[in-house]
Amino acid sequence: MFAAILLNDEWGRLTAAIENPNAALMFETLDDVRREVAGRLARAAKDRKSPMHVPTVVTSDVDARVMVLREFDQNAWTLRFHTDTRAPKVAQIEGDPRMAVLFYDKSAKVQIRVRGKGRVLRDAEVTDTAWANSDNFARRCYLGEGPGALSDVPTTGLPPEFQGPEPTDEQLVPARPNFAVLLVELEECDWLYLAHTGHMRAQFSRGDGDWQGRWVSP
Ligand SMILES: Cc1cc2nc3c(=O)[nH]c(=O)nc-3n(C[C@H](O)[C@H](O)[C@H](O)COP(=O)(O)O)c2cc1C
Repeated sequence: MFAAILLNDEWGRLTAAIENPNAALMFETLDDVRREVAGRLARAAKDRKSPMHVPTVVTSDVDARVMVLREFDQNAWTLRFHTDTRAPKVAQIEGDPRMAVLFYDKSAKVQIRVRGKGRVLRDAEVTDTAWANSDNFARRCYLGEGPGALSDVPTTGLPPEFQGPEPTDEQLVPARPNFAVLLVELEECDWLYLAHTGHMRAQFSRGDGDWQGRWVSP
């Protein structure tokens, strides 16, 4: 019975391939693609080894930098990052929240480009939770000079006493105000899949809460 279902399924895919040889077998509908994007981003946040764990994050001043993706909320289609409140990107996002984020997974042959609005949360519950879930080595990054602070000598920005050892919880109290969560609420998404039979591309945009999709030529 199980084998029969599998065979039937394979036959369906084979037929689809014969009818449309350019179609990649896994992605026959826009819903398939949207599920694939959501699943891939959610896994990327959890998997440190995923190439999509460290996407390129672009702000409206046409500056770009690598950041660690901490979470993808599949219901709200929102990305979560962590940042230092003193980093230049924070002032930029608060002045003009338009953002883009670029992901590429070479072995999966998938590029995902998203655009949305950024929000920096300093004192929200999500920020407290993220801080509580960080270890003291991660929190130490927020203890020294802010990103971009000038120095006359090569510097880690950290006070000398914290360059080796892990600070204690008490020593980290002054670091907490420098820590914030950056949420990027997605409004547009562009998915490109590279296949030897021909690449495939789909775009999605969010109007009144609902996502609308379309196929486009790569
Ligand atoms: C692998 C990697 C991961 C990084 N992760 C973060 C991060 O999660 N948050 C962050 O603010 N900066 C992160 N950075 C540093 C940023 O790329 C950037 O240098 C810093 O945030 C200052 O950015 P700004 O000057 O644009 O504000 C990371 C850099 C690398 C190379």
